[in-house]
Amino acid sequence: MSLFAKKPLDLILSQAADSEKGLKRTLGAGNLIALGIGAIIGAGLFVRTAAAAGQAAGPAVTLSFIVAAIGCAFAGLCYAEFASMIPIAGSAYAYSYVTMGELVAWIIGWALIMEYALGAATVSIAWSEYLNKLLGGSIPYEWCHSPFESFTDSAGVYHEGIMNAPALIILLALTLLLIKGTQESALVNAVIVFIKVAIVILFIAIGWQFIRPENHTPYLIPADTAPIADQAGKIIADYSGWNKHGWGGVLGGAAIVFFAFIGFDAVSTAAQEAKNPKRDMPIGILGSLVICTILYILFGHVLTGVAPWTDFVDPEKGREASVAYAISTYMTNYEWLANAVTVAILAGFSSVILVMLMGQSRIFYTMSNDGLIPKAFGELHPKFKTPYKSNWILFLFVGGFAAFVPGHVAGDLTSFGTLFAFVLVSIGVWILRVKSPEIERPFKTPLVPVVCTLGAVICTAMIVGLDMQTLKVAFLWMGIGLIVYFAYSRQHSKLKK
Ligand code: ALA
Repeated sequence: MSLFAKKPLDLILSQAADSEKGLKRTLGAGNLIALGIGAIIGAGLFVRTAAAAGQAAGPAVTLSFIVAAIGCAFAGLCYAEFASMIPIAGSAYAYSYVTMGELVAWIIGWALIMEYALGAATVSIAWSEYLNKLLGGSIPYEWCHSPFESFTDSAGVYHEGIMNAPALIILLALTLLLIKGTQESALVNAVIVFIKVAIVILFIAIGWQFIRPENHTPYLIPADTAPIADQAGKIIADYSGWNKHGWGGVLGGAAIVFFAFIGFDAVSTAAQEAKNPKRDMPIGILGSLVICTILYILFGHVLTGVAPWTDFVDPEKGREASVAYAISTYMTNYEWLANAVTVAILAGFSSVILVMLMGQSRIFYTMSNDGLIPKAFGELHPKFKTPYKSNWILFLFVGGFAAFVPGHVAGDLTSFGTLFAFVLVSIGVWILRVKSPEIERPFKTPLVPVVCTLGAVICTAMIVGLDMQTLKVAFLWMGIGLIVYFAYSRQHSKLKK
């Protein structure tokens, strides 16, 4: 069988009709926007805004948000076309099985593991940071950091991480919840979204008065910025690279904050539950993107205006739990806001982790039904009817990353996986337009191939803006994926049979 054998669209649609029987079309445009915001606002905003400012963009992290949002908008338009046309669970993996064939679908599926599984790991690590902040820093450094992290405190004591226990605990709790089959009801999601958005708006409104213009000058990190060292003299930030200062830094920052937008594609997985996918899918996907983009830009403006961006480099200052740090350090009399922010963030992170774990298990489920990964991933619990084996395997995998890998590494890999999927989805829309122009498309991406090309180019540019280290690990991961494909999946593919 050719490596590029394609799954017929009719087959996919009939399989979807089979397995998705019973799903009711209950979600309106408002629900879909809430779903999107629920999955979007999380660690990206509350943790990586400061990381991008401290490592690459300075106050121009606002521009980084704009660049990332433009890339997402193009990709979002392409997702909207596919989601209204192929309304099934596997998302980008399923779309590429139809358009570009099995090998490319496998590669996307493998990359999506980086998006969803490592995304969950990243947010659970952020959850741990904020929990520690809420508890007044009482969790020992060793037990809330990976073995790859260390620092010397102001008393000269050297600390080295052992494992990130709180991250593991939240993952375990949410895995149990998922196995039990507890669905995030639209109401619970709406409540969490309301709290998250209210806190973000509150921070913007109150923080605005504490902006100091000198923190915004210069706006871009100057090329001659000296490296920053920790208490022990170890260099922890260096601005000499092309993507670490100036406009290059804006692009580097975009690659970092891109993480904050991940999740709008999760709206596409609800395509078969939308009352009117033709109209509401684009509204859900693009509406949640627009609302989040506006909030993000304002948030970045306030955060870097309240605290100098250099504070976000130092682990003893604002590198961790940056929002709470900025409030308690620079916004006098607003300690309550720091605590409210922290509690809301913890709740918000939990919903992001839940959606990511759920999304990953649905992709595993689809890949397993296609025979590309073992059957266990598709087996349902006899009582709860959830893919429980898949959930446990996922817990071990995600937990391993959460406990033993630094947050920024997992986060950058998440961005890589997602960007990679976006590039292929953008190209896929164009390919299918040329090859199968006759298929009915309830929503059509405007200006094809311009939008597809721009989506692919901007997302590729953000991939290039990622750290060399991240790229090496990502390619290693993709290489392992190819070995698995040729050693296992190709033989077991149901399409082949
Ligand atoms: N966009 C999600 C977050 O920032 C993944 O947590």
